[in-house]
Amino acid sequence: EAYFSASRRLSGLRALVTSGPTHEAIDPVRYIANRSSGRQGHAIAAELARQGAEVTLVSGPVTLPDPPGVNTLHVNSAREMLQACEGALPVDIAICAAAVSDWRASEEAGQKIKKDGKEPPALKLCENPDILARLSASGAKRPRLVIGFAAETSDIAEQAAAKRQRKGCDWILANDVSAESGTFGGPDNRIILIDDQGQEDWPRSSKDAVAQRLAARIAQAFDRPHR
Ligand code: CTP
Ligand code: CA
Repeated sequence: EAYFSASRRLSGLRALVTSGPTHEAIDPVRYIANRSSGRQGHAIAAELARQGAEVTLVSGPVTLPDPPGVNTLHVNSAREMLQACEGALPVDIAICAAAVSDWRASEEAGQKIKKDGKEPPALKLCENPDILARLSASGAKRPRLVIGFAAETSDIAEQAAAKRQRKGCDWILANDVSAESGTFGGPDNRIILIDDQGQEDWPRSSKDAVAQRLAARIAQAFDRPHR
């Protein structure tokens, strides 16, 4: 009860959020993954719901609990994530915070790959579908506001601006994921937001605070002032 008593500025809006890593199977016991914890995406889903939005969260494998008041769908691979996202349309807002594996094994072995005394096996990879780009180009079903993240280790603002163009999304939240930054899996984030007006630097803060700031900016974009 008390949890939902905050001003519900986003009520009546539908949102889709992706979060976490994906796992791409190599064989029945092995997979390709990454260090994403899902903390930022889950925090965003929770905050949008708290502000009254109807939220679908499509989550890769994480150790976090499902956020309260959020319809959470659990997937493993990028292809499953894409399918779940397309099934959640239409929405007003899509936020892609997942660290989707760029590649998967081109062939998933049906049996556990064994050491057979010869050369180690060569992993052949192929590219996964780009969920953010697909949502940005979903025609009549395109969400009115599509937001992506950009994980960069150098020239952060420049690379993120190029990524925004490439993906066709409206806003990009760029963050520094270099090893020194401690962002991946850590509690904090330092964001540079890029939209069609330019760039906005947000101070380093907790992932919850980033979620609040983003929710406020979304409310503004939909002309939902504080009541
Ligand atoms: N993304 C996605 N599907 C993919 C890859 C990325 O939806 N297959 C989304 C991420 O959720 C994020 C944005 O695209 O919102 C940018 O992800 P990022 O990994 O930074 O960019 P890539 O385009 O994959 O480029 P690269 O990793 O080579 O920098
Ligand atoms: Ca990537």
